Amino acid sequence: MAELAPINDTITLEQLESDPFPIYRKLRAESPVVRVKSTGRTLLTKAADTKFVKDTPEIFSSDDPNTPMKRAFWAHTLMRKDGEAHKRERMAMAPAFNPKVIQTEWMPKYQQIAEDYVARLPRGEVVDLFELLSGAYAARGLAVLLGVEDASDADMMEWSQALIEGAGNFGWRDAPFERADRANEAIHALLDKAQDRHRANPNPSAFSVMLNAEDPIEMQQIYANIKIAIGGGINEPRDALNTTLYGLLTNPDQLAEVKKNNDWVKAFEEGVRWVAPISASSRLVTEDVEIRGHLIPKGDTVMTIQASANRDEDVVSNGEAFDVYREDCHHQSFGNGPHFCQGTHVARRAVGHIMLPTLFDRFPNMTIPDIDAVVWRGFGFRGPIQIPVLLQ
Ligand code: HEM
Repeated sequence: MAELAPINDTITLEQLESDPFPIYRKLRAESPVVRVKSTGRTLLTKAADTKFVKDTPEIFSSDDPNTPMKRAFWAHTLMRKDGEAHKRERMAMAPAFNPKVIQTEWMPKYQQIAEDYVARLPRGEVVDLFELLSGAYAARGLAVLLGVEDASDADMMEWSQALIEGAGNFGWRDAPFERADRANEAIHALLDKAQDRHRANPNPSAFSVMLNAEDPIEMQQIYANIKIAIGGGINEPRDALNTTLYGLLTNPDQLAEVKKNNDWVKAFEEGVRWVAPISASSRLVTEDVEIRGHLIPKGDTVMTIQASANRDEDVVSNGEAFDVYREDCHHQSFGNGPHFCQGTHVARRAVGHIMLPTLFDRFPNMTIPDIDAVVWRGFGFRGPIQIPVLLQ
């Protein structure tokens, strides 16, 4: 019988939050399957293993009852379901993510939002784009796509953050749950009010397609999955945009080439490879299984570290570097298997096709005047939380 994976009791959550990449690099080389005490989970840092886990839902379940997610969302969302139950709910939202709908309905709206939001930025000043642009752009686009336009950008960002922090409240403290409760109440009130409008005027938004489906899923699940999309659809495009901007502005040669060839989508793809906005995901192990000669016992929780998989020496050369023109931009930032990100195409287009060229068109000579003023943060989710840029 194989032995359990080694235990590491030195890596702290604070280290993982502030700069996990040197840790991942060491783990990939020395102990790619490791029980990290501070996380309470078995971390998997190699690309083949993270992919195997996500592609094998029969053994690695998304339905982990030990997480605070249900409590935070007042619901069991599609993200934590398996098999047919998951598929049914995912399909219910799918018409809103249909490529044609994205192209004809959402992208013209995202383009307009991008132009409006970029136009209101001051020229010649240093501004924090995290604060003034990236989150608000993601929030407004998402509100339109979901059919909750009555929510302000500030509402959407607060709800998203409240739900995420509630779902990550592994210490089961009161305050984060209370904040999540307030978000749930506000979202429910908004959805209650928006129902009549969407029933009277069926449209391609996620709320409308779920409400007006021939065989709708339960109302509670419609609400649950709008909430998961709010929780999961703002931070990631925001972080992807900020990360890609950082990569381009700190590599002027690449930026010049990207401008010349209009390679903004390529830049976005390298941005999300370099720093995965969702860096880690959890799965519950439902039967004993072996990975790299280690027993992963039933009942264990594994964490796939896609942030590490994306820099794995086995699949990417010099993965620590941001390099738009690398030939091996393999990444798992949108996940794998049945839970593969439903918003992939929206995010790629919203950031790569639309926001990056719109922003550089208006401010072609942007710079980051003080590199030390850029602050990176995050273990589960990661990106710059402060990115002051001189707009010119
Ligand atoms: C760069 C931006 C984005 C990244 C990197 C990203 C990443 C991911 C990842 C890694 C997952 C899978 C999680 C897991 O396996 O446990 C996921 C799921 C999901 N994402 Fe995204 N996401 C992004 C943008 C969006 C946007 C804009 C939306 C909505 C418009 C969205 C909606 C969803 C939904 C609904 C799921 C759950 C799918 C399921 O469980 O079947 N995402 N995302």
